[in-house]
Amino acid sequence: MSAPDLAPAPAGRALLLENIHADARTLLSEAGWEVETTSGALDETELLERLPGVSLLGIRSQTQVTAKVLDNAPDLRAVGAFCIGTNQIDLFAAATAGVAVFNAPYSNTRSVVELALAEIIALTRRLTVKDQAMHAGVWDKSAAGSHEVRGRRLGIIGYGNIGSQLSVVAEALGMSVFFYDRTDKLALGNARRCGSLHEVLEIADVVTLHVDGRSSNSGFFGEEEFARMRPGSIFLNLSRGFVVDHVALRKHIESGHIAGAAIDVFPTEPKGSGHAFESELRGLPNVILTPHVGGSTEEAQEDIGRFVAAKLRDYALHGATTLSVNLPALGTEATPGTVRLAHLHRNVPGVLAAINSVLAEAGVNIESQQLATRGDLGYVVTDIAAHASDEVGRRLRELPETVRVRQLG
Ligand SMILES: NC(=O)c1ccc[n+]([C@@H]2O[C@H](COP(=O)([O-])OP(=O)(O)OC[C@H]3O[C@@H](n4cnc5c(N)ncnc54)[C@H](O)[C@@H]3O)[C@@H](O)[C@H]2O)c1
Repeated sequence: MSAPDLAPAPAGRALLLENIHADARTLLSEAGWEVETTSGALDETELLERLPGVSLLGIRSQTQVTAKVLDNAPDLRAVGAFCIGTNQIDLFAAATAGVAVFNAPYSNTRSVVELALAEIIALTRRLTVKDQAMHAGVWDKSAAGSHEVRGRRLGIIGYGNIGSQLSVVAEALGMSVFFYDRTDKLALGNARRCGSLHEVLEIADVVTLHVDGRSSNSGFFGEEEFARMRPGSIFLNLSRGFVVDHVALRKHIESGHIAGAAIDVFPTEPKGSGHAFESELRGLPNVILTPHVGGSTEEAQEDIGRFVAAKLRDYALHGATTLSVNLPALGTEATPGTVRLAHLHRNVPGVLAAINSVLAEAGVNIESQQLATRGDLGYVVTDIAAHASDEVGRRLRELPETVRVRQLG
């Protein structure tokens, strides 16, 4: 368990790894942090050496923040994953240590949508085939098999952040949008919700997958689904590699049943740039393969840098946990002119009463108070008129359910 502190801390030190966008450094520096950066990831040993004195840690996908790291970093308050996924962080250990974790789930939505649209147009127009022929010295001015996207039917599977934004932009190009989502989603614009996956497959000229990475989606699009697609249709996957059976896709492309495909994500992906890439889909005509770059644009990186850094700052300064992936969500700033006590605890009955009893016995007047819970954790922020004494801090720390208590402001 972490050592809680009640003394209001100065902003302190932040460590940003893996070439996080410079805007994150600027934002934290302007808020008073001393920021160190590295271009690469750190392994567990290196991380343990660098973390003493660091209150905010920023990583991307290559740094593993393990239970061992979290259990041995008493100064750490929050970890920012400057990316979408948080699998590289032991979220349970972080919550148990009272360390908030934030990510950027929406910053690259538009980048994925634009790549999908570019690929839909390129494949519908058979641009890759024309391009390859030209590079091979062949002039083929035929229109056969090339279509406008206007008026064609786009089938979106998974109508979340990305699927629904793609729906809006595709309609602006004149496409008719049909979608299927396992949950009840509001149709945007003139898009039509379908009752089943198969209904979309039988209607759409272009099928694009934007489902999430839940384990039940493993292999959910295979031989049966490709066979259900319309002859001459186009297939895209920019969601997760493990959801599609690539052997079945290859078969349907070779037979001509599927006229083209764009794949950005693979069941097994190389560890990094420069490593060999193996796939059943290499060497096929009218198939665009990209190295998981759907969300990789400079705009998305900049947005991620600012978004996650602001979450870290707001948690450290105000205790705000909105969009934290592991702590109960409380978003507001402290009432003006007050000091905030942020108390993270195990979620069992009676903790709020115990906190308030400590404050009442010390004669501390509560200006406002909010409680949120999430699974095994509870989080109370209490705004009080003046700084609480060390004795109040000691008594709050000693409550058996306390995970971490901080005084902010
Ligand atoms: N290629 C990239 O670089 C890149 C970048 C960002 C996100 N992604 C991936 O894109 C996918 C979508 O991202 P998002 O932010 O829109 O996620 P999201 O969680 O907002 O939306 C996913 C939607 O899919 C639906 N869904 C899940 N399983 C389904 C199924 N079997 N059938 C029908 N609907 C199903 C969910 O109900 C949800 O509405 C994710 O897998 C994400 O990891 C890829």
